Amino acid sequence: MNFIAINGSPHAQRGNTGLLLDKVVEGVQSAGGTVEMVYLSKIKVNPCVGCDVCHKTGSCPIPDDFEELKKKLLACDGFILASPNYIMSVSAQLKALFDRCCGIIHCQAMDGKYGVVVETSGGGGDEQVIDYMQRVVGMLGAWSVGSVGSSIAGERLFPDQDRLFAKATALGEELYRATLEKREYPDQAGAKLALSAYMRGLVDLMKDFWRYEYDYWTKLGK
Ligand SMILES: Cc1cc2nc3c(=O)[nH]c(=O)nc-3n(C[C@H](O)[C@H](O)[C@H](O)COP(=O)(O)O)c2cc1C
Repeated sequence: MNFIAINGSPHAQRGNTGLLLDKVVEGVQSAGGTVEMVYLSKIKVNPCVGCDVCHKTGSCPIPDDFEELKKKLLACDGFILASPNYIMSVSAQLKALFDRCCGIIHCQAMDGKYGVVVETSGGGGDEQVIDYMQRVVGMLGAWSVGSVGSSIAGERLFPDQDRLFAKATALGEELYRATLEKREYPDQAGAKLALSAYMRGLVDLMKDFWRYEYDYWTKLGK
């Protein structure tokens, strides 16, 4: 099974987020998964300009690396999203990716996939950022398997580091197992159905404009 790990930190694998993310990745790999690493600081995913072209045609006209990354997201079985806490939210690099995924969200195109999130901070507020990232996993249409996050105790150093790393590795293993078993989460099922119905209704309302998305849902028979 194939997984994609997206690191939104400008410090890529050299940063605190990269260090914690690597432990989650080790967990996925030790369970038997293949993981492709994507560092947003090494590719170009520009901010969304709100042109609506993705809703009409199914692809984004901004000439950067997003469409290539979108293909990988749509092809993976599961994914990991990682970010440092930047002013109580994710990094601008990861937020740009989230915004560019608006078409995926309208189509709930990551339905049937599984995601986990990784976060690090300088001094706390971890829950708020993790909660936001997990809500985005759900908005994409995927099941949210879990999270790991921590403030730091120094550069590439965490308080209670051994326990944190063990949790991160266990989370990676759990991501693999959930994906393999095609696990369903009863506590997320109601919200998932409601979101899907909402997006289907929205696209229906906009059918004269958002042709690609209308055809997408129609082909699904929904
Ligand atoms: C622009 C910027 C904003 C930040 N905002 C916060 C914040 O609101 N709360 C916090 O606890 N840490 C904040 N931090 C600290 C980072 O979240 C923390 O150092 C993180 O571990 C960095 O991860 P990295 O090494 O992967 O880039 C901020 C750092 C930067 C550079």
